[in-house]
Amino acid sequence: MTEIVRVCSTAELAPGTMRRAPTKLPIAVYNIGGAFYATSDYCTHETSSLCDEGYLDGDEIECGWHCAKFNVKTGAVTAPPATKPLPTYEVRIENGDLYVVVPSA
Ligand code: FES
Repeated sequence: MTEIVRVCSTAELAPGTMRRAPTKLPIAVYNIGGAFYATSDYCTHETSSLCDEGYLDGDEIECGWHCAKFNVKTGAVTAPPATKPLPTYEVRIENGDLYVVVPSA
């Protein structure tokens, strides 16, 4: 069963920024030019937190530990040393609030 978790109001996540969702599963949410996306917050290389250690540049997140890069829209690896894509999650906007759809474990 999936769970739908409110992250924040859309106004609280400005374009070009990201934040950790208040979920047990480590999920990062991003505002890329006014569109919202969600991926795992953990780098697939050695589980660095992308929100705490990463750098968002356009639609790419760079891991702060060893500089792997991922496209936050698709989760695809765009620079090594990571080889596995980031899991991505569905986001929803209702009444100005941003939600993330969390799959069951
Ligand atoms: S932990 Fe992210 S590149 Fe190594």
